[in-house]
Amino acid sequence: MKTISRARLHQLQEREEKRFVAEHPKSAELYARAKNSLLGGVPMNWMKKWAGAFPVFVATAKGARFTDVDGREYVDLCLGDTGAMTGHSPDVVAEAIARRAREGITLMLPTEDSLWVGEELRRRFGLPYWQFALTATDANRFAIRIAREITQRPKVLVYNYCYHGTVDESFAGLHDGVVVPRRGNIGPPVNPAETTRVAEFNDLGALEDALKHHDVAVLLAEPAMTNAGIILPDDGYWKAARELTRKYGTLLIADETHTICVGPGGCTRLWQLDPDFVVFGKPIGSGIPGSAYGVTEEVAQRISARIALEDCDVGGIGGTLAGNTLSLAAMRATLENVLTAKAYETMIPLAQRFNDGVAGAIKKQALPWNVIQLGARAEYHFTPNPPRNGGESAAAADFELERFLHLYALNRGVLLTPFHNMALMCPATTAADVDLHTRIFADAARELTA
Ligand SMILES: Cc1ncc(COP(=O)(O)O)c(C=O)c1O
Repeated sequence: MKTISRARLHQLQEREEKRFVAEHPKSAELYARAKNSLLGGVPMNWMKKWAGAFPVFVATAKGARFTDVDGREYVDLCLGDTGAMTGHSPDVVAEAIARRAREGITLMLPTEDSLWVGEELRRRFGLPYWQFALTATDANRFAIRIAREITQRPKVLVYNYCYHGTVDESFAGLHDGVVVPRRGNIGPPVNPAETTRVAEFNDLGALEDALKHHDVAVLLAEPAMTNAGIILPDDGYWKAARELTRKYGTLLIADETHTICVGPGGCTRLWQLDPDFVVFGKPIGSGIPGSAYGVTEEVAQRISARIALEDCDVGGIGGTLAGNTLSLAAMRATLENVLTAKAYETMIPLAQRFNDGVAGAIKKQALPWNVIQLGARAEYHFTPNPPRNGGESAAAADFELERFLHLYALNRGVLLTPFHNMALMCPATTAADVDLHTRIFADAARELTA
């Protein structure tokens, strides 16, 4: 197996940085201007993380592609970190949104679309009752509140290096087995050790250790981890984990926001998981803000019994714009026409093609890396074998190398997710798009090892 010389990496990085700046004069100009009115020069702090000296400013996006203000076109394998897994602005959704926008955007009253979406989510995931929020973060937060309320337990259990949005309880990690604020946690309201237990994924012993205090209301989990790279559950893990949560009276939230990439009913349907809650955000409305959370019959009954009509608007579950007519129209159009079973029939083989292409390049250069696929997404890690938990994945992270590969791809017209090395396929992605990435990745691997 080859190792990568850091001197060589730095040399190549410098070359790519110069090229990026030279080729994006208009983005550079806008970024310089943005620094006068936007904190850090970006509309949202994580936009600083893009691999160049500044983010590329977008002009237009459609399907699997976008064009920047310098007129450069890109294949988008980031797809808004799953928010645009539908492809950018699918015509049928854009039309539904435009129609709804002319007919009333938010009223605090239901439209028939909400029923259609609730019925469709019930059909897809099997959970009978649904509610809407604006972000997956909020859907998780509301599900956690319900879980705490009905179990009357204080704590949330998460996996080490998970990500579930900006849910305060989830910004916790393990340091020598002790729960600590996760690195980078900005202004935690309390020490997360007070609210959270943390276990490594794929470790049933650690899960049981966390549950046996009988103080965990809910396990908040992605069925396969996608935010520390892709980490698949071991065979039989979920069956055993579910038995443990039941044994200790802990509920389970399946956060399918990213794992919806495996099929129309997420892993819940594909792997026949049996969660108490399902959360689905981001692409549910093709990127129009909206999310949904579903609950079982039992959860529905237990929570309904505890909410008094007079207090139902002050319980900490809310959002004036949640369930607005525009979100629901976008969700209906998306679920009916875009994120269909048929769409996955093209997206998933493309992710397989991505996986095979990258695996071939890794093998050819004898790099100690691996690539792994989960439905319509794939991801490479800088370690010979796929990590089995968040701790292992974090230990294999290489921020410098990651930035280099992202910038190398960006300079050649391919956008990867700025966090780790994820690539996602949408219904408009083509085999040629995937092959372009494969060629670029192979060239980068060759240059790195030359
Ligand atoms: C699994 C998962 N859940 C929830 C979220 C939060 O989504 P949002 O930022 O739209 O609230 C994310 C965001 O990346 C996520 O990856």
